[in-house]
Amino acid sequence: MLIKTKKEIPSSEITPANVYKNRRQFLKGSVNIAFGAGALGAGLISPSALAQTAGLRGRAPTEINLAAKPDWLVAKVGNRNAPPASGPYNTDEALTPFQDATNYNNFFEFGNGKGDPASKARDFKIDPWSVEIAGEVNKPGNYTLEDILQPHTLEERVYRIRCVEAFSMVIPWIGFPLADLISRFEPNSNARFIEFETLYDPEQMPGQAARTSSLGWPYKEGLRMDEAMHPLTILAVGMYDDILPAQNGAPLRLVVPWKYGFKSIKSIVRINFRRDMPNTAWNDYAANEYGFYANVNPQVSHPRWSQSQERRLPSGLFDRRIPTQLFNGYAEEVAHLYQGMDLRTYF
Ligand code: MTE
Repeated sequence: MLIKTKKEIPSSEITPANVYKNRRQFLKGSVNIAFGAGALGAGLISPSALAQTAGLRGRAPTEINLAAKPDWLVAKVGNRNAPPASGPYNTDEALTPFQDATNYNNFFEFGNGKGDPASKARDFKIDPWSVEIAGEVNKPGNYTLEDILQPHTLEERVYRIRCVEAFSMVIPWIGFPLADLISRFEPNSNARFIEFETLYDPEQMPGQAARTSSLGWPYKEGLRMDEAMHPLTILAVGMYDDILPAQNGAPLRLVVPWKYGFKSIKSIVRINFRRDMPNTAWNDYAANEYGFYANVNPQVSHPRWSQSQERRLPSGLFDRRIPTQLFNGYAEEVAHLYQGMDLRTYF
C-alpha cells in the first residue's frame, strides 16, 4: 500500500456531525430550512459543507453504484434502530463527507488507485448474494444474504477508521454486532479464530485479473474469537443512511474500528470458524509490514513510515494532520484483549 493522494480538498469541506444529523431531522420534516441559513450566517457551517449536505440528500453526484439494489435490503437499512446516544459506539467527531468516503477507497479487487473502486465497480452485482458459514460450527451451510440478515436489527455506529497508510475518516456505518451472528451459528469449542473471504470474480473485479496484481486472491482476513465477539466489531450493510456502495464493500463487510482498515474486509462471501490462526492477504504479501493483529498503535511504526500521525480526510498530503491514538481511540474498550502481549511483537 502506497501513500497517494489524488486531489487536494480544502479542509472547509468537512461535514460536521450536526449538519448530517440536521439533514436527517430535515428529512423527517422536523427542522425548518432557516436553521441552515442561520448557521451559515454565523459562520458555523461552510457553504461547501451545506453543498455536501445537499449532495447527500439527493445522493448526487455520487450514486450508489450497483447493478441493482435489492428492495428488501434498502427497506431493512431504512428501518434500522435509532443510533445509541454517544460513547464508544458513536463518536461526535465531524463526519467525513460522503463524497470522500466513496471516492478515496482501498478495494484492490477493483484496482490500485484510490479512485478505481468508485469508477470500476459501477455495475457490481450484489443480487443474488450468499455467504458460506463453514468450519467449527454446529450450523454450517450456504445462506442467502437475506437469511444471514433476517433476524438482526440494524443500528448506526459512527466510528473512526484508520488506514495503515495513515489517512483516517469518520463514517456512520449501519450494521449489527458480529457477535450476534456468531452466536446464531453456534461455534463449537474448537473455534478460536474466524476467517473471512471476499468474493472471487475476476470478470467483475478487474484487479483480480490483472497480471500486476500484488495480492493473492480471494482477499482474506481473520480475527481471534474474542476480537470477533467484541461489541465494537460489526458487520456493516450500509453507511450514510443507505446501503453500502460497491466501493465500500457491498453488500456485507466487516468493521473493526481499533484495527488498521485492512482488517475490515469487504464484500464477504465466506465466514470460516477455525482452530488455528488463518493466513491473511496482507500478511501473506509482506509479513514484516502487515501483522495479523494490526492494532492501531502510534508507537509501532510501519517499517517504511511512522504511524504517530494521520491525516483526517478530506485533506491534502500535509494538512489536517492529527495524532494517532492507541487502538484508534478505543483503548478503554479493547486494551484488555491484549494484556500481557508485547504489541511490538504482535503488531
Ligand atoms: N477488503 C477487500 N476485499 N479488498 C481490499 O482491498 N482494503 C482494505 C479494507 N478492506 C480492502 C478491503 C483497506 S486497506 C482499507 S483502508 C479499507 O478496506 C478501506 O475501506 P473504505 O474504502 O470503505 O474506506
